[in-house]
Amino acid sequence: NGLRIAVIPGDGIGQEVVPEGLRVLRAAAKRFSIDITFDMFDFSSWDYFEKHGTMLPSDWKEQIGGHDAIYFGAVGWPEKIADHVSLWGSLLLFRREFDQYVNLRPVKLMPGVPSPLAGRKPGEIDFYVVRENTEGEYSSVGGRMFAGTEREIVMQETVMTRVGVDRILHFAFDFANRTKRKHLTSATKSNGIAITMPYWDERVEEVSKSYPEVAWDKYHIDILTAHFVLNPQRFNVVVASNLFGDILSDLGPACTGTIGIAPSGNINPTGEFPSLFEPVHGSAPDIAGQGIANPVGQIWAGAMMLEHLGYPEAGAAIVRAIEDVLAQPAFRTRDLGGEADTETCGKAIAGVLEAA
Ligand code: NAI
Ligand code: MG
Repeated sequence: NGLRIAVIPGDGIGQEVVPEGLRVLRAAAKRFSIDITFDMFDFSSWDYFEKHGTMLPSDWKEQIGGHDAIYFGAVGWPEKIADHVSLWGSLLLFRREFDQYVNLRPVKLMPGVPSPLAGRKPGEIDFYVVRENTEGEYSSVGGRMFAGTEREIVMQETVMTRVGVDRILHFAFDFANRTKRKHLTSATKSNGIAITMPYWDERVEEVSKSYPEVAWDKYHIDILTAHFVLNPQRFNVVVASNLFGDILSDLGPACTGTIGIAPSGNINPTGEFPSLFEPVHGSAPDIAGQGIANPVGQIWAGAMMLEHLGYPEAGAAIVRAIEDVLAQPAFRTRDLGGEADTETCGKAIAGVLEAA
């Protein structure tokens, strides 16, 4: 009754950073006596598409749906296959079919990572963005009339359901409740978007009653983005609708450094389906095959996965090992101004876990 993880390296640097992620996960599993089996899958890649004419086998759900989680690299190779075919034919299907309605992204300033926010020290910025991943502004309700004429009318509706809003809020409050600071911030815009956003606020108010220990506040999205840059130390858990969350979950990691280190969890909190953990970056065809990609985003995604699966100490130990290693210039990859290759950085992080 150990953990079974479905591993999908995918395309480009996914093939290079996933092995380092597995190296570190194996080291953590050994140290914390976690029994993990990794099953490798070659689909969701250009190579698979070239052979089979599809991104996924028809029984992909049976193949990976019973695993405890999916550990994903990256997909996409724009020179060979259009992004809407590769991403919509794999990753986006996983997210939708496995009802991964939470997108979770840590925003944490690590040592050795040049932050565009001048003067900030590691430890000062440490929070999470929780994005609603299935409804809201990204609906397909709408249409175009009188197309191409001067009377053209275009509309697209925001769809919020009680179930959809409440479940993301419950996840966020519960998540905040399990942190030390027990604080939640909600992103709104009820002064301008006068129907859906007041509803969102109402549900925040209502759901908050189930979490009396969590203090919460709300900001309009415009000033909230300013606070991300000016006062990031203020935040602990930030919850947002699909569109606002999309923006915040890129802005947050951008404030704390390079795309090479940021991880992301696509989570199905009920556990009915596996959740998927991946780096934020894509397949980076411009540097693929050179062994120079930064493996930290992939490794950190592994830490999130262990935390999600009930091993928070092992997850925290991986994050500390990342911090240890990034503090040493010799192990930084090129995107961080260093000269280390992918494997050197990955081995150093695994080494910290093995030595402890
Ligand atoms: P990208 O994230 O792959 O690369 C953007 C830039 O960041 C490139 O210059 C790349 O070299 C650099 N970079 C990315 N990750 C890095 C790492 N770990 N270490 C050092 N440098 C790194 O985004 P891009 O170029 O827009 O997309 C390439 C392909 O990846 C496309 O097909 C795109 O659709 C796909 N993609 C897939 C994602 C996923 O699988 N979740 C997410 C984003 C893009
Ligand atoms: Mg985005």
